Amino acid sequence: MNSDFSHFISRRGLLVATTGLAVAASMRPASSLATAVDERRIRAAPSQARFTGPDGPHTAVWAYDGIIPGPTLRLRQGQPVRIIVENELNQDTTVHWHGIRLPNAMDGVPGLTQKPIGPGTSFVYEFTPPDAGTFWYHPHANSLVQLGRGLAGALIVEEAEPVAVDRDLMWLLQDWRLSGDGQIAAGFGSPMDAAMSGRVGNVVTINGTVPADQSVKAGERVRLRLANGSLARIMALRFEGHRPVVVAIDGQPCDPHEPEGGRLLLAPAMRIDIVLDMQGGPGKRYAVIDDYYDGLAYTLTTLAYDNAPPLRAHPLDTPVGLPRNPLPEPDLSGAERQQIVLQGGMMGGGKLAGVGGMMGMAMPGMNGGAAWAINGMSMTGDGHAGMMPRFTLKRGSTCHLTMRNETAWWHPMHIHGFSMLVLSRNGSPVPYRQWQDAVLLAPKDTIECAFVADNPGDWMLHCHIVDHQMAGLMTVFRVT
Ligand code: C2O
Ligand code: CU
Repeated sequence: MNSDFSHFISRRGLLVATTGLAVAASMRPASSLATAVDERRIRAAPSQARFTGPDGPHTAVWAYDGIIPGPTLRLRQGQPVRIIVENELNQDTTVHWHGIRLPNAMDGVPGLTQKPIGPGTSFVYEFTPPDAGTFWYHPHANSLVQLGRGLAGALIVEEAEPVAVDRDLMWLLQDWRLSGDGQIAAGFGSPMDAAMSGRVGNVVTINGTVPADQSVKAGERVRLRLANGSLARIMALRFEGHRPVVVAIDGQPCDPHEPEGGRLLLAPAMRIDIVLDMQGGPGKRYAVIDDYYDGLAYTLTTLAYDNAPPLRAHPLDTPVGLPRNPLPEPDLSGAERQQIVLQGGMMGGGKLAGVGGMMGMAMPGMNGGAAWAINGMSMTGDGHAGMMPRFTLKRGSTCHLTMRNETAWWHPMHIHGFSMLVLSRNGSPVPYRQWQDAVLLAPKDTIECAFVADNPGDWMLHCHIVDHQMAGLMTVFRVT
């Protein structure tokens, strides 16, 4: 037995004991703390980016650690992490660890789960990611502007055992509305964007740059983690000449399957992990196309094969399924039923659909008021004090949640603190067992899902087209 190992154990044991005794923090040597917890630090501040490469114009952005996107945080499943967030913006911010099931106080919603991080101050987030998978992080204060100016990063929680692929790639996709001079266009929160498809931009980047070719090798197997960090742009990706296999959705492993029509529908906040076997020939080129918006298909990037002979003669036949995460299984027999109905938005002819109920608080600094509602109530803006829960769940109970979209628009509905097992879409069971934290509803869709309310606190449930959230497609529920 290696003596370093036992030494490590005893040091850890000592640290745990010390913490357990609640000895004053000042008595704990800082160096040994650093070995006990994985400590990271990120800083939100104004910066410059070059979306079109080293020769392109500088764009003024807000960024984590000065880069777009922010640093990819690679964490380990089940290992505690401490992330110190420093705010060098001239306004309040927070960080939401999108999709991670963590304690409510670490969820990053100002006014609801924490005090905002004021300019020049910092906040310490501490949690232990229970699930391996692909997640991301972004502010939850003034989100439309802060996310829209660039504050976002990928968060990868690694499996305990590495997954057998040749390469593990992350594509954080972001959409920008740039003006002619290459700067981020003004006009965040326009009533038109708010009541229609949101602030869809005119430049799409992968990991912060307008993508050049992606060089690949014949015969290699790639795990490609796709995350849509856009404010509003929905994407539908096709990989010409390839057959992607979906292995995880929103960070949660699913039954491996090929997407319908070979098209990966990726709405804002959604993640899809695919396994791509590079079956093209050396020297060949294949387009990756986004054809979500009718008549506006474009080539996002190109898979460019190098000239090397194939890595292997036959595609791998090892299974691509990922190990399941420890999600509590919903018990549908005794479930508490809740329904949320999405209402509002622009109808044909430019009329705003009736938004009933209270108009909620006006959006600070915005012309628009509420354009949307959930069950007749418009909760507008971003996280703020005094957000009253619309329903309460008993801790440990199963919630059977029906979401009905009465509007003429698409909405990726995001739940904080939980992953939901998707049961059915418009009455038909979903074909592959999947868990999601952002469920995309087409116009008039009804979706049923379920989750175990095992995580106490006040949690947000909102549309992740950020203009929609700001203009009323947001609610809060409580688990006690
Ligand atoms: Cu990605 Cu309420 O958040
Ligand atoms: Cu929406």
